Amino acid sequence: MRIEVIGGGSLGAAIAAGLAAAGLDAHSAEEVSDHARGVVFADGLRSVGPEGATALHLAALRAARALAKHKGERVFVTVQDTGGSFAMHGQAGDRAWAGGLAGLAKTAIAEWAGASVKAIDVATGDGSVDEVAGRVVAELLSGGADVEVALGPSGSRSVVEHHAAPYAAAQRAPLREGSVIVVSGGARGVTATSLASLGHLRPRLALLGRTALVDEGPETASAPTEADIRRSLLARAQATGAIQSPKDVAREAKLILDCREIRANLAMLERSGAQVSYHAVDVRSAEAVAGCLGVIRRAWGPIHGIIHGAGVLADALIASQTDEQFDRVFGTKVDGLRHLLAATAADPIELLLVFSSVAGRLGNSAQAAYAMANEVLSAVAASERARRGPACLVRSLAWGPWAGGMVTPGLARLFEKAGVKLIALDSGAQALAREVASDDPFAQVILMNGDPPVTAIPIHRAG
Ligand SMILES: NC(=O)c1ccc[n+]([C@@H]2O[C@H](COP(=O)([O-])OP(=O)(O)OC[C@H]3O[C@@H](n4cnc5c(N)ncnc54)[C@H](OP(=O)(O)O)[C@@H]3O)[C@@H](O)[C@H]2O)c1
Repeated sequence: MRIEVIGGGSLGAAIAAGLAAAGLDAHSAEEVSDHARGVVFADGLRSVGPEGATALHLAALRAARALAKHKGERVFVTVQDTGGSFAMHGQAGDRAWAGGLAGLAKTAIAEWAGASVKAIDVATGDGSVDEVAGRVVAELLSGGADVEVALGPSGSRSVVEHHAAPYAAAQRAPLREGSVIVVSGGARGVTATSLASLGHLRPRLALLGRTALVDEGPETASAPTEADIRRSLLARAQATGAIQSPKDVAREAKLILDCREIRANLAMLERSGAQVSYHAVDVRSAEAVAGCLGVIRRAWGPIHGIIHGAGVLADALIASQTDEQFDRVFGTKVDGLRHLLAATAADPIELLLVFSSVAGRLGNSAQAAYAMANEVLSAVAASERARRGPACLVRSLAWGPWAGGMVTPGLARLFEKAGVKLIALDSGAQALAREVASDDPFAQVILMNGDPPVTAIPIHRAG
């Protein structure tokens, strides 16, 4: 089997040489060739920082995609340096932005029956090229079937497991009356739902979403469902002689429903006790985010908190996930967070929550880009927690599927068939409130499968 070690500079070359010295048909390469049946993606050993995250993860997806078209025996390995701990302890600093690679490996496991897959995080630290490469080669040759393997400083080796999380109530809530919280994705879906549980604290919530609010005409005002709205729009087009394609009608109907959802949520959040503003902005644009936060500051003063809930899905198997799909999914989450952090660098931030997903922590078929993006969010949250210290509550919430938001009725049926319990809307909202009121020492928590959702944290087991 031909194995290609992709990228990683001198370390990648040394890993290929080490594998070749052990008798394997291993080569260092910049791109995966058609002959490869094994790929070790080693470019995660470089420090790419926030700006390089997209290119790195897209390159990893492309490497996996090249391998995905071959059936039969395959090897796929991602190698990163996010502190030798999958960035969980916060020492990874800016290297955390490479923290999504393991999400790709875990997705490959879910999609490729019989493939040998591993995600390695090795602390390069002060080790020589030969020492670090030697640790990776040893893991590949004799590490067995462990999937997420952390090769930490001082020669330690551990695997990632998930354990029930303790819960410690906070001495001081990071939210007070009048706290200004910017919430991406906060006007729709489960982020909006969960904000209701914070309303009694009387925060000021600035909600960001792409949808520009429009007023609907009288012809659809009493049409309750999407089908009814479409019928009303078609009747209007016929009456006026306007030409509207079925696609245009569908788009307009969706916009009407989205605007209704946003307006209903704004009213619901105001009833819950919060002061609310809505801003149509795409978080993938740095300029738009900076401009929008300027508007919020001028109206309400400095920003005290960020909740990053914006997200989109574009599910496809690795073999067919396009660069454009990757860009949409990854950009919304990762560039969105990057822009929100950059635009609030001088604000007194006391709360930073990111909405991640179990798809990243555990891997999920057809969600490679989504899994990588969510893992980056969790990794960056851990670094931000370490950087900001106890004055700021930072947490990544890796949600399991909710009974709402992007989980359509069709998806809900699939989850239920697979025995995964959906998170009820009220329970999810209460879980968010509990997280905001907690002093737990960890930056990442998994909330899934139950009512209330069961909480767990990823931990390292030496071995
Ligand atoms: N629902 C679940 O079961 C579940 C499970 C695990 C994790 N999560 C996470 O929870 C978050 C919310 O999910 P959801 O189910 O509520 O999804 P949703 O109903 O599709 O809502 C997504 C929200 O993100 C906003 N958004 C998307 N792209 C944006 C962009 N580029 N700029 C600004 N806003 C953007 C959307 O508003 P516009 O369309 O107006 O832009 C919408 O408010 C996501 O991060 C998701 O990954 C959800």
